[in-house]
Amino acid sequence: MRKNFLWGAATAANQVEGGFDEGGKGLSCADMLSNGTKEHPRQITPQTTEESLYYPNRIASDFYHHYEEDIALMAEMGLKCYRMSIAWTRIFPTGEETEPNEEGLAFYDRVFDLLKKNGIEPMVTISHYEMPIYLVNHYNGWASRKVIDLFLNYCKVLFERFHTKVTYWMTFNEINCGTLALGNYMSLGIVNAGTRSFTQQVDDKQLRYQALHHQMVASAKAVQLAHTIDPSLQVGCMIAMMPTYPLTCHPKDLLKCQKQWQEINYYCTDVMVRGAYGAYADKMWKEMDVQLEILPEDQQDLMLGRVDYIAISYYQTNCVSHEDDHSMIGGNLLAGVANPYLKASEWGWQIDPDGLRYTLKELYDRYQLPIMIVENGLGAFDKLETDGSVHDPYRIDYLRQHIQAMLAAIEDGADVMGYTPWSAIDIVSASTGEMAKRYGFIYVDSDDYGNGSFMRYRKDSFYWYKTVIASNGREC
Ligand code: BG6
Repeated sequence: MRKNFLWGAATAANQVEGGFDEGGKGLSCADMLSNGTKEHPRQITPQTTEESLYYPNRIASDFYHHYEEDIALMAEMGLKCYRMSIAWTRIFPTGEETEPNEEGLAFYDRVFDLLKKNGIEPMVTISHYEMPIYLVNHYNGWASRKVIDLFLNYCKVLFERFHTKVTYWMTFNEINCGTLALGNYMSLGIVNAGTRSFTQQVDDKQLRYQALHHQMVASAKAVQLAHTIDPSLQVGCMIAMMPTYPLTCHPKDLLKCQKQWQEINYYCTDVMVRGAYGAYADKMWKEMDVQLEILPEDQQDLMLGRVDYIAISYYQTNCVSHEDDHSMIGGNLLAGVANPYLKASEWGWQIDPDGLRYTLKELYDRYQLPIMIVENGLGAFDKLETDGSVHDPYRIDYLRQHIQAMLAAIEDGADVMGYTPWSAIDIVSASTGEMAKRYGFIYVDSDDYGNGSFMRYRKDSFYWYKTVIASNGREC
């Protein structure tokens, strides 16, 4: 295990900050997503705020006003690292301004200074599902090549301002979400005519894969820029690992499974780590009838802007089968065939710690780059007791098993830099917009509609994780 292993926890600006109209902040795509549930999808309303809908990310956990208290709690838990993101719209409210918003920069200065004072290393995602809504409405998001320059302008401001305070960066959260129709809005900022439901977005593969290409070029240019501004900066890609198993040993199940790993899990890492699309990509585009515009300078940028480490989220696994008649189950971003050996969370995500060990070994064997686990956790209903306690043994169980699996993978030879489970504190769920789907070590007293005192309470998992960190994983 690494000597300075980064034990931490994670959040994202759009799900934790709130203060959506304060400090000069502009509206983001997350601010224009209504709430929902597992049964009732969130609604996408990029043009207007609809009176009959509620927009949970606008208030979120109100970190914007509670950050001092929240960082004090993180320090009490013993976090050595905090993975967070910067809201693009706090720095460039529409994304098109030439000068950054000083009030937004000053807010993050205060956050980073406080983290540093408490011995907590910040790890920053530059864009986590919160593109300025102006860019969605005026450019159809990443579908336009022009957004690359706007993004780089934003990156330049961040690297120049914060390079002495932040060493670890990630360009886009779960960039491979763009390989799925679900990624159109929150990941790529694309709204095709007729899109309204978050789970049933109108998809245009040609547009989506071109937009994803633009994002990867932007990421590669950002890596180069970071290294030019300060060679000590470490920039990673961030991938949602959606591992699958063949449902049976039928060779066609195995082939289908391999194809899915390439097209969903490795499509972006191959480009961002190796600097070029994988050998399978041509056939894949042909099958989808997609013709990408890849300029010669894009190819050069992709090669020059290879990342320093790989960050992943890992929540669950599914199976694949070459036959159609199997029961399906949900999951983070991607549904699949149910695995008869696994139990699922209340939101139907199958819990699979061994899958994490497998994934870490696969990734390390393929790329030999350090891996950072920046998301892993259990979304569950929690109950705040009258004495202020929250008993969450299910979360402790989930995290314990995954930490043990990670430690086993490290023993097996994988180089893991750190672990920042999702989430440091309760936040708004990305997929459903619920507050009730809680992930935090710290409970936030707010319901799905932003009613509550917003007081913070330590859950049982808070004390448990504190011991895990203090013992460097030995007491788990
Ligand atoms: C990841 C995202 O996909 O999963 C997070 O990066 C998200 O933003 C997390 O919150 C958990 O998913 P959900 O939908 O339960 O919030």
